[in-house]
Amino acid sequence: MASIHMAQRETWTSRIGFIFAAVGSAVGLGNIWSFPFQTATNGGAAFLVVYLLAVALIGFPTMLIEFVIGRRGEQNPVEAFRKIGHGQWSFVGGLGLFSSLLTLAFYSVVGGWVLSYIVGSATGSYFGDPGTYFGAVSAGPTAVAAHAVFMAITIGIVALGVTGGIERATTFMIPAILVLLVGLGAWATTLEGATAGYNYYLSPDFGVIANNFGTIVPPAMGQAFFTLSLGFSVMIAYASYLGEDDSLPADGGAIVVVNTLVALLAGFVVFPILFATGGAEGASGGAGTAFVALAGAFGNLPAGQIIGFVFFVVLLFAALSSSISLLEVPVSYITEHYGYRRSTTAVAAGVFIFLVGVPATFGTTWLGFYNDFVFKFLLPIAVLLLAVFIGWFADTDAMDELGRGSSVGGSFKTIWLWWVRTVVPIAVVVTLYLGIKALYTGLSSGAYFG
Ligand code: PFF
Repeated sequence: MASIHMAQRETWTSRIGFIFAAVGSAVGLGNIWSFPFQTATNGGAAFLVVYLLAVALIGFPTMLIEFVIGRRGEQNPVEAFRKIGHGQWSFVGGLGLFSSLLTLAFYSVVGGWVLSYIVGSATGSYFGDPGTYFGAVSAGPTAVAAHAVFMAITIGIVALGVTGGIERATTFMIPAILVLLVGLGAWATTLEGATAGYNYYLSPDFGVIANNFGTIVPPAMGQAFFTLSLGFSVMIAYASYLGEDDSLPADGGAIVVVNTLVALLAGFVVFPILFATGGAEGASGGAGTAFVALAGAFGNLPAGQIIGFVFFVVLLFAALSSSISLLEVPVSYITEHYGYRRSTTAVAAGVFIFLVGVPATFGTTWLGFYNDFVFKFLLPIAVLLLAVFIGWFADTDAMDELGRGSSVGGSFKTIWLWWVRTVVPIAVVVTLYLGIKALYTGLSSGAYFG
């Protein structure tokens, strides 16, 4: 029976195709929208330092964990564990699948806002009153319709397949994002607020880190996992379409570096824009303030309409190249496990996820809670389980797989394994403890639903 479902699996057509797809998953709303504003909310450059450390020291080794499982397993993220002889750990892949579904439901709602802001830039309709415009497009029928359109595009790309859809789309979108963002960054240097913006962004105040350790670390770590798409089983799925001759450490390193550069670059675009028209204060805080603050700034800048349009198009490409990876996780599982056609599965899963996201169009309260729940709870748990699994239960296979197709030395592999066994779990447990504390405080003080 099983052989029916073992039809020829697709593989990326080239190494660069895989890198574009994985960078596409990583680069998203998390980099361009959430990262600058998390930085603004959490004390500017102090947050940046902790975030960069989290990406390099915990994110990169964790990405290699997902790659190793995916390529070794050559299956969707649930069955990959079984295929490498550890079926009892399949629930970890399932947990990632659950996070992917939940995340895409909300991600698509915000993707819908981005669509509305593209339209709003073209027509100039948010220029007069950015607050009212946000209210009108972020909730109610407009938000539902935009969420539906965003999801439909995502479904369309995934239905076309790994190479014909995902690889082709990201091979177009990633270079476009890079070129346009560099252009926006160059333009932003000419703004009057540029220096003030850079200063705010780039002068770390180490006192702030020391005094706010408990409140900076969980969001910084959560942001690192989210931006690298870790803990969602996405990188397991993508690595399962890899050939043997790719170097996992080299590809992972390239993906982490490009993703980080895009986030940093987004800060170089956003902060000068905000400081040209007032400062970063207005942009810190909840999900919507960033849209309102940026739209307000575009309304007051020379050429703001065209700049705003380009900015939101970049944001749309970034969001789509991520949303397709989130949909790919359930689609790969359902097509392989049940043998359904990819296109049918993409539509069915996409419609289901669309429905799950609809409550988020009633108001932004859910979005804030969801964000904290995923960042502070689900992701750290998934990463902890992945690290314990690879570090303690599948270490020999993992070392072997990491070395395939790469020229990394034995010492790289040994250090990585040691790191994954000890440093990663300890760091994640500390984060989890701080995060759960913060969640609990938030819930009991009525910060979410009060
Ligand atoms: N990494 C994406 C971002 O930064 O926006 C979001 C994301 C995509 C998270 C895919 C998780 C994922 F599996």
